[in-house]
Amino acid sequence: MSNNHFSRRTFLQSSLAALALPHTVLANEHKTNQPEYFETNTLAPATKPIILTTWEPNVPANKAAAAVLERGGRALDAIEKGVRVTEADPKDTSVGYGGLPDRDGKVTLDASIMDEFGNCGSVAALEHIMHPISVARRVMEKTQHVMLAGDGALAFALKEGFKRENLLTPYAKSEWKNWLKEESKKKKLEPPHIGKSNHDTIGMLALDTHGNLSGACSTSGWAFKLHGRVGDSPIIGAGLYVDNEVGAATSSGLGELVIKVVGSFLVTEFMRNGKTPQQACELAVERIARKQPDYKELQVGFLALGKNGDIGAFSLTKGFSYALYRNGEHTTHEAASFVA
Ligand code: GLY
Repeated sequence: MSNNHFSRRTFLQSSLAALALPHTVLANEHKTNQPEYFETNTLAPATKPIILTTWEPNVPANKAAAAVLERGGRALDAIEKGVRVTEADPKDTSVGYGGLPDRDGKVTLDASIMDEFGNCGSVAALEHIMHPISVARRVMEKTQHVMLAGDGALAFALKEGFKRENLLTPYAKSEWKNWLKEESKKKKLEPPHIGKSNHDTIGMLALDTHGNLSGACSTSGWAFKLHGRVGDSPIIGAGLYVDNEVGAATSSGLGELVIKVVGSFLVTEFMRNGKTPQQACELAVERIARKQPDYKELQVGFLALGKNGDIGAFSLTKGFSYALYRNGEHTTHEAASFVA
């Protein structure tokens, strides 16, 4: 029977049943090239250019990126342009300006970018700069390094002419003050319930009219995190990976879980080994669920864009959404999830 004949229900039943079994029985992706529970993505075949971005509210970012691609521009230029829209939006409390601070009241930003040649750059725990994605691109293009962090990243950005700004909006500051009053009484930092607040990290993947892929990822990370905490977004292979021969992937959600499985590289590598983007996202989520006993309380979402324009989207728990630009149309969708 072809994979197409298996429904979402079949996937969930098979996956949840599998979770009750010992690990040796669980490793089904190692046993067969065609696990039975995959669902193919039901959206129409793709026409270049394509933009695939985490979270519904990121349609304006996709519009900015689409304008570049429709002029025949490079995917790399498109994704930088698109992500900058969200970074500058004070209403988005998970990315750039307006992002919720760490427990010390500091807005620290993570971002990464990767092009069709495998070049990449990233910044981690960067303060005071509204567009970490552009600093990440500068790291990629103007240094011999891949990643700059903290004060070094800030010094580099200032030297490159980026403006030093206060990124803590009055709203984010009041949220932090509330958190200090209530949440800090608790011993453990609560994982963010991403999806309930309707969005999180922006991860954007694009396929340009020349058939080349690029990707970008930007976030203020886990709200009220320990100062110095770095998530998956700036870690190449975790929050973002681009392999121009096969596809690209990005993630949103609890970065610690993504880092532990090198999530975006894992998704891309599944595609390299013949899986569709949808199958690849499902396998990566399944890998996390298998290793994380409390996975039902947590959220991670993956997006994947294949070299042929096929897309994949899948999350641990309900609520992960994405914005898609394809065939000249902007649409939004909720991803299927491992936990119904
Ligand atoms: N996925 C964003 C973070 O965990 O920082």
